Amino acid sequence: MSEAVEKAELDRALALDIVRVTEATAVAAAQWLGRGDEASADEAAAAAMHREIARLPFEGVVVVGEGEEGDCPFFYMGEKIGAGSPTGASVDLAVDPIEGSTLCAKALPNAMSVLVVAERGSLLRVPPIYMEKVAVGPGLPEGVISAAATPTDNLKALANAKGVRVEDLTVCVLDRPRHGNLIEEIRSAGAALRLIGDGDIAGVIHVTDPVQTGIDMYLGIGGAAEGVLAAAALRCLGGQMEGRLVALNKEHRAWAKLSGITDLKRTYALEDMVSGDLSFAATGITDGTMMAGVHHSPTTITTESVIMRSSTRTRRWIKTEHADPTKFD
Ligand code: FBP
Repeated sequence: MSEAVEKAELDRALALDIVRVTEATAVAAAQWLGRGDEASADEAAAAAMHREIARLPFEGVVVVGEGEEGDCPFFYMGEKIGAGSPTGASVDLAVDPIEGSTLCAKALPNAMSVLVVAERGSLLRVPPIYMEKVAVGPGLPEGVISAAATPTDNLKALANAKGVRVEDLTVCVLDRPRHGNLIEEIRSAGAALRLIGDGDIAGVIHVTDPVQTGIDMYLGIGGAAEGVLAAAALRCLGGQMEGRLVALNKEHRAWAKLSGITDLKRTYALEDMVSGDLSFAATGITDGTMMAGVHHSPTTITTESVIMRSSTRTRRWIKTEHADPTKFD
C-alpha cells in the first residue's frame, strides 16, 4: 500500500476512535451536570479524555491544550499522548474536554466536548489568551470579511455578497462587557444580534448553516484555543474565518511572549490556523443547537456526536447507546 493510501485508511479508521474519546469525555463531564462545580467537571472530563486518547494508535502531540507543563495535570502544550503506531503516525491534538464549563456546571444548553486530530504540524499553537474572530459561512466570495475591517464594513460586505440588507443579517456575539462597543456598532449598523452566554465554537459553526441557525456572521473576542478549534470545524464545513490574538492583561502578554508570539497585530487566515487534513469530533454534554446532550435511562446512557473530516468534508451524526459507560467500545 502506498503511504498516501495508508494514511487515508488510518484517518478513516481513526474517525470512530475519536468519537469514542469525546463520548467518554461527555459522559464523565455529565456526572457533574448542574452541580455548580466547574473545576470538578473540568477535571473529570480532562481525565476521561486523556485516558481514552492514550489508547489510540498514534503519537499525539498537544498543540491546543490546557496550559503549560507543570500548570495542568492533563494536556499541557507539547505533551505526547497515544499508544503509538507501527507506522509511526504522529498527529497534532487540539482538545477542549468541556467547551462551556459554566454551561455544564449550571446545566445550561450547548456544553460539549471537542477533539481535533490533525496532520502533524498543521495546527496553530496558541497560548491561553484571547482571539478576536470574524467568521461567515460557505458559498461567499473569497475575502468577503476581514479581521482588519470594522464590524460595519464587514456587515455591509456580507449583505452585498448575499444580496440582502444589513437589517436582514444576524450576528452571533458572546455576551460580555468587553463587547459593549461592538454590540452598539452592530445595532447601529442595523443588524440583529444573537447574544450567547458561552460556547463560541458552536457560535462560529452556526454561520455555516444560516438557514437553520439564523446566524450569518460571528464576531468578537473569545478564547484563542476555541478559535483554532472553530477554524478546524470550518475547514470541514466550508466558510471563512480570520482571527487576531488578543492579550487583555499583563498575564496574557507574558503568555504570548512565552509562546514566541511577537506580533499581536498579525491577522491569521483560516489556513494559518489549520493548514492540513484533520478530523473534528464533538459530543453534546447538555442539549444544544447542534446535538442532544448526555441522557440517562435505567439501563443505558445515550450520547450524540458529530464527526467531520476535512479531506472528504463528510459529516456524520452518531447517536450511541452505552450499555456499560465504563467501556467506550
Ligand atoms: P470554557 O469552557 O473554557 O469556560 O470556555 C467557554 C467560553 O465561552 C468559550 O466558548 C469562549 O471562547 C470563552 O469561554 C470566552 O472566554 P471568557 O468567558 O473569558 O469571555
